[in-house]
Amino acid sequence: MTMPDQRRYPPFADSRLPHVGTYRRVLAVSVDRLYENALDWAHLPFLHASSFARIDLHDAGPWGWRANVATVTGDQLVLELRLDRECRRWITRTLDGPNAGSEIWTHAFPIATRRTDIVVDFFVPGIAPEDRERVGQAFCDIYERLYDEDVAMMIERQRQMDRRIEADRGGESLRLGPEDSLALPLRVEFAGRDYIVARVDDGLLAHVARCPHQMGPLPAAVAGVVRCPWHGYRFDARTGKCLTGQVCQLPQAPTVRIREGEVWLDR
Ligand code: FES
Ligand SMILES: [Fe+2]
Repeated sequence: MTMPDQRRYPPFADSRLPHVGTYRRVLAVSVDRLYENALDWAHLPFLHASSFARIDLHDAGPWGWRANVATVTGDQLVLELRLDRECRRWITRTLDGPNAGSEIWTHAFPIATRRTDIVVDFFVPGIAPEDRERVGQAFCDIYERLYDEDVAMMIERQRQMDRRIEADRGGESLRLGPEDSLALPLRVEFAGRDYIVARVDDGLLAHVARCPHQMGPLPAAVAGVVRCPWHGYRFDARTGKCLTGQVCQLPQAPTVRIREGEVWLDR
């Protein structure tokens, strides 16, 4: 697909585009988590792997992002999202591909610190009046699924941000039990943080259970590699090094030691 020529695209269309439907939902998250989620282009092919296959960024900033997006059904789109904090809304436009010219306007209405009402309006050009309801329903169904996935991520991220404030307490060592009785991989809380003890290279190793990028939930290392489900970053569990090139690494985890047949975590 060629890069979009911005001059071909008019500024945001207005109500002359046919309105085909509205999706509305109250989400148990703050409006800040929603802005963060809207700007987070990188999660599309990972968190929403059932909808998107790939994303190639053109440009991103506090204003939003523009990218080539491939769907799992083989469609190639150029999408642009523009965030307008002042009006508490973001507008996603399809610049190229199927439904080019369509716009999705999301307005966010905070109703409590961690409760936000969202209203999402779908505008699609070239849809005959008798087809609007059907097309609108199809958009609502997609948004229902995407928001189910997004809400789970936003709530979990908020929970981890709250928890981080309480971290860094606890002792110097934790006894996990006899080596032959451990059900691996094992999730443990130690000094206020979550770790996973897994078998790596015939030995036991602990690594953090939270991604250093945006605190996504990390699964146990497989063949020494930990892969985050939220944006697909991969890490070497032994060294903490990021294997996908991003500037972050796994923080140091406690050392696993075996003393008289018992497994211990030591700070
Ligand atoms: S939270 Fe983004 S890759 Fe883990
Ligand atoms: Fe999302």
